[in-house]
Amino acid sequence: MMSRDQQRSSDPSATTRRKLLSTGVLGVATATAVALGAPAAAQNSTAEAISQPSPEPTGEFTGQCAFITGGARGIGYACAEELAKAGANIVLYDIAGNIDTVNYPLATEQDLATAKLNIEALGVKCIAIKGDVRDRTKLEESVARTVREFGRLDILVVNAGVTQVGVLDEFPDEEIQTVIDINLTGAVKTTQAALPIMRRQNAGRIVMISSILGRLGNENFSVYASTKWGLIGFAKSTALAMAKHNVTCNAVCPGWVRTKLADNDYMLNAVSPENPNFDAVEAAAEASYHPLPMGAYEPVDVARVVKMFCGQATAMITGEVFDIAQGQNARFNA
Ligand SMILES: NC(=O)c1ccc[n+]([C@@H]2O[C@H](COP(=O)([O-])OP(=O)(O)OC[C@H]3O[C@@H](n4cnc5c(N)ncnc54)[C@H](O)[C@@H]3O)[C@@H](O)[C@H]2O)c1
Repeated sequence: MMSRDQQRSSDPSATTRRKLLSTGVLGVATATAVALGAPAAAQNSTAEAISQPSPEPTGEFTGQCAFITGGARGIGYACAEELAKAGANIVLYDIAGNIDTVNYPLATEQDLATAKLNIEALGVKCIAIKGDVRDRTKLEESVARTVREFGRLDILVVNAGVTQVGVLDEFPDEEIQTVIDINLTGAVKTTQAALPIMRRQNAGRIVMISSILGRLGNENFSVYASTKWGLIGFAKSTALAMAKHNVTCNAVCPGWVRTKLADNDYMLNAVSPENPNFDAVEAAAEASYHPLPMGAYEPVDVARVVKMFCGQATAMITGEVFDIAQGQNARFNA
């Protein structure tokens, strides 16, 4: 097993930062224009040069198209990168802005722009859309645009999510509603938008990102955990509804992953008030409740499993719930 340091050195976002720094030319305005789908003329030539595709990719997903919600950073971006490396064209759909009732920063427009450039640098096409999974109309328009530009929609990664942590009695209505609206209702709306084209194709692969907290209760994450349990019910129901159309739907359940959802002041102050530091929390988890001798996963660790559920090896598997949970799942009853 790789050490945490080795894993970090393979962190796609770290690679991304290195690439951009080495070019030394990516301006915020240019990146934003690219992300928001500005016409080519509105983007400067430097950005076009950066995003020029390198050699034609050949891989398991060549010619396919993957639509990924929450794709600007974290697990969603890592899924985009893994699928793109195997040849898939990518649609990144991300709110790319903050929400008042979410207590930590979400991805920015620049994150979305950077993600698009880095996916294109892998030699595939990428559309970046600033959109909210709570917005049915925008989702439907985005799927229509995907089909117009890429001709199909093979893979849907239902990933966008937000978290909330603290004492159950103290959660305000607006926060509770936001977590449910994004993690659960947003997942339903995203899936509904993609089903008609997958049904017409008589093919499609859907992967939903639940959580280990969709398998366990946790007193600090009661609403979040409820949405992740709910998402598993939705994934299994979608699997049944779409099986006859040759569409699979599976859920993956990650444990602790090093992303900005987990590594932010709001979260760390709640889970480790004496020492609100990600490395300290990670070390404590490793020393206490992680059976595998490891701390957090890196996003790519989850993305590789998502890719597996989009590929040939799992073409006849649906309704599965797959734990990526440092071995904590070995403690489950069944
Ligand atoms: N990080 C972990 O430890 C962990 C563990 C288990 C499951 N998960 C799940 O993985 C998924 C990805 O989380 P992450 O850890 O990469 O977090 P993240 O915050 O880094 O990424 C989430 C992405 O979703 C986007 N997003 C949030 N609300 C949105 C909305 N309404 N519409 C569109 N986009 C929206 C954000 O801008 C961000 O880019 C989430 O569903 C999360 O619940 C994370």
